[in-house]
Parts: sequence; structure tokens; C-alpha cells
Amino acid sequence: MEITPVELAYEEHGQGTPLVLIHGFPFNRTIWYPMVPLLKDAGRIILVDLRGFGQSPFTEGVYTMRLLAEDVVALLDRLGIEKAVIAGHSMGGYVSLAFAHAFPSRLAGLGLIATQAESDSPEKRQNRIKQAEEIGRKGLKGFIEGMAPKLSPYASMQPPLIDLMGQANPKSVVASLRGMAERSDAAEWLDTIEVPAAVVHGSQDALIPLEKPRTMVQLLTRGWMVELGCAGHMPMVETPPGTADPLRALLEMVKK
Ligand code: MLT
Repeated sequence: MEITPVELAYEEHGQGTPLVLIHGFPFNRTIWYPMVPLLKDAGRIILVDLRGFGQSPFTEGVYTMRLLAEDVVALLDRLGIEKAVIAGHSMGGYVSLAFAHAFPSRLAGLGLIATQAESDSPEKRQNRIKQAEEIGRKGLKGFIEGMAPKLSPYASMQPPLIDLMGQANPKSVVASLRGMAERSDAAEWLDTIEVPAAVVHGSQDALIPLEKPRTMVQLLTRGWMVELGCAGHMPMVETPPGTADPLRALLEMVKK
């Protein structure tokens, strides 16, 4: 299994306090494009492709959340950034939490978008393993068709999301499913996070129900939550301004 960090593909926009945006599963950094014009005057916005996605190198093995967080800290080292605000969507949120746990001295603030602190239930874990096996045998098509309706209540959102998911390498999808299944429960140590934390969640999220972030935010010492009534699981494309506002607030807070 690959355990050393890989050089992640990234792009950056703007200047000032670094804000790293980590995409969810099975997307890539382009999912954040609607955020760029809304955030680039507020900080140095860094979009990354996780290992195996977008233009980042593929490696064999299980993509644990810790391994993916190590790739992100290696990117900060490469860019000479000591501390950054780390914000992640869904699986990117799990990676952000793993980053917060492993590298607290590199964290200036935390953004948790459409995500949760809990690990998988035994049923969910089994289901992921089953999905991984099915993708290995039959490819991505059926998996994507099953996931698409859960991403957003807006039918018009689905074709571009399906298109983007279809660009993923099936082997990276499998490696991430296995990594998510292995992740540990972050709720146990959330109160040790000392930095401000913005929790952003769509009220209509069909993948991660609202009670999960509501529980998570209560455990975050300096956390606050924004519920977006018109969003499902993809708030950065469903309501870009609603998602950008709390991230701007986070950058402002960290500057002081
Ligand atoms: C994601 O959107 O990144 C994933 O669906 C999260 C998950 O499956 O837990």
C-alpha cells in the first residue's frame, strides 16, 4: 500500500489567508468553481484534487482519511504555508477532520460542508464494501446512477454532477469507499479543536441528514452552524453565496 504523500494537483486564486477547499466523493476540485469568484477577494483560495481524482496521481491501496490528510499537509509544505483554513465537502470533510486531528498546529480554521463527525455504522460499512466489489466487477455506471438522485433535489443539477462523477477513476472510487469505511469516529475528540469551525449543511441533504451536523456542531468548542434551506448535499453548486458567506466569515475571524 502507498503510504508516502503524493504531489497533489491544485490551483490557487487570490491572496491572503490560505483557504484549502477539499472536494467530496467522487468529484474533483472543479466542483468548487462557483465558489472562486465569491471568495477570491477574501483570501488565498487553494483547490486541490485528492489522490486518484482529477489530475492528482493515482496509487493502489486504501485511501484512508489520514493518508489523504497527509497529502494535504505535504502540499502546504510545498507551498511554504504554515497554517491554513481547511474546508471540506462530505468526504473532504472527513479528510478535514483527519487533518485537524493529525496536524492541529497547521490548522487556522475549519469548514465542514455537508459532512459529519460520525464513523459508519456496521451496515453502512458493509454496504460500502459491497459497492466497492460491484464497481470492481461492473464499473462505475450503476453506482453513479444510484448516487445522483441523492445528491440534489433539483433535477437540473444532476446531469453536470453525473458527468463529473463519470470522470472519476473507478479504482480511486473503490480505494476511497474502503477508506471511508475504515474511518474512525471524530466525535470523541472534536472538543479538542481550538480553532473556529463553520458547519454548513443543506436542509434537504438526502445523504447526510441534518441531525448529524447538528450533533457535530454542539461538540465543537468554537463551532457555529448555517443551515441552507434550499440546498441538498451539494450546497457549493446549489447555493454558492449561501456556502461562501460562512467561509468568508471564517477567513475574517482567522485574520484577527
Ligand atoms: C461524499 O459526498 O463525499 C460521500 O457521499 C460521503 C459519504 O459517502 O459518506
